[in-house]
Amino acid sequence: MTALPTSDPAPARSTSAIHARGVTKTFVAEGGRSVDAVTGIDLDIPDGEFVCLVGPSGHGKTTLLMLVAGLIDPTAGQLTVHGKSVTGPGADRGLIFQQDTLFLWRRVEDNVAYGLEARGIGRSERDAIVREYLRLVGLTSNARSWPKELSGGMRKRVQVATVFANNPDVLLMDEPFGSLDYVQRTHLHDVLLDLWTRTKKTILFVTHDVDEAITLADRIVVVVEGRVADDIPVPFPRPRTEELRATADAIEMRKRMLRHLGISVSETQRLRARVDGDPG
Ligand SMILES: Nc1ncnc2c1ncn2[C@@H]1O[C@H](COP(=O)(O)OP(=O)(O)OP(=O)(O)O)[C@@H](O)[C@H]1O
Ligand SMILES: [Mg+2]
Repeated sequence: MTALPTSDPAPARSTSAIHARGVTKTFVAEGGRSVDAVTGIDLDIPDGEFVCLVGPSGHGKTTLLMLVAGLIDPTAGQLTVHGKSVTGPGADRGLIFQQDTLFLWRRVEDNVAYGLEARGIGRSERDAIVREYLRLVGLTSNARSWPKELSGGMRKRVQVATVFANNPDVLLMDEPFGSLDYVQRTHLHDVLLDLWTRTKKTILFVTHDVDEAITLADRIVVVVEGRVADDIPVPFPRPRTEELRATADAIEMRKRMLRHLGISVSETQRLRARVDGDPG
């Protein structure tokens, strides 16, 4: 097939990966009651940045992610991804949600290959991409396994491999590791940071866990009542070890986030005591 000149050239990489101005989403629930889920979000995320969204429950984080994904339309405002207005879902944005989204009737390698197949990528190229991403997430020996044969953490690794194999510009992740235990989650952080370092994708990652945000992000955006309540740069070098998370700067950052989450300073101190290894 002859490659046709495209009328929609790739936008300049200097454009913000995600640009939001006054983005608002009002849901009208059953009975006509309206809910202002997102209320005038202004946000600019440069290409390649790893941004964590934190905020209290029900304050608009998932709604913002769904808007960027193009799964819902804004009620008002302007939202662009790499300079293009978001008008619906697209292969330029990859999604990982908390719940498993693997096809149970496809082997691991066929799950990872799914999006590539759908895009018509030929067999040998597809196999090479699948093999490479399974290697990077540490699942080479599970390529022929069925999803039901994997642990929760392994299934997450398949999801991460799948979304990266599709090579989107922007990754949207909504509490993707929320269901995992500490060890599995820590492993997934390493896997994700390794892939992000290699590919420099733009990542918008929702989490409830302030330590997860400090471990992963270049920048933490706090969403409260559907607005950006705080925007915190995370200047710490990587890898962000347990020792780093125990430094005064990291503890201050954690407190700043917890204040927005409505958790009192005494609760913060209790959490800090736990971090320091004192259960009291
Ligand atoms: N489809 C919908 N219809 C009506 N209201 C909705 C809909 N989706 C979300 N909402 C409401 O919008 C508000 C924001 O919800 P959202 O899911 O974005 O919060 P969240 O910050 O992701 O919360 P959590 O941390 O608990 O996941 C909530 O009041 C929620 O009830
Ligand atoms: Mg949510």
